[in-house]
Amino acid sequence: NLMITKFNHVAIVVPDLNAAKKKYKEVLGAKVSEISNYAEHGVSVVFVELENTKIELMHPYGNKSPIKKFLENNKNGSIHHICIEVKDIKKSVEKLKKNRIKILGDETPKKGAHNKPVIFLHPKDFYGTLIELEQE
Ligand code: CO
Repeated sequence: NLMITKFNHVAIVVPDLNAAKKKYKEVLGAKVSEISNYAEHGVSVVFVELENTKIELMHPYGNKSPIKKFLENNKNGSIHHICIEVKDIKKSVEKLKKNRIKILGDETPKKGAHNKPVIFLHPKDFYGTLIELEQE
């Protein structure tokens, strides 16, 4: 019956990825990755590696980025979503639909930034938080 298992990451949209990368590295002493551009997802990402989880710093990539509007509405940046792993993404979709939870897009799991199937749950159903569920 267990659907969600591990916390995977929190994603934060930032106005300047290089500046954010530098701040996490130099002020917080964090281990940070280089910037990766994901054209197919419309985002550039820096991974902040922590011992027990990670933070993903994101910035829009390209003109059709799904987070472009979010940054316009949150000019200083903001938490965008949290990601939790699930045992079985297909069973999760069925159960969520049964419970009338709104899944963004066409409700079929898509390959996410980690190359695993993901879905996003509408924030209105989860207390104002956009939730990404990723196949573990
Ligand atoms: Co994510």
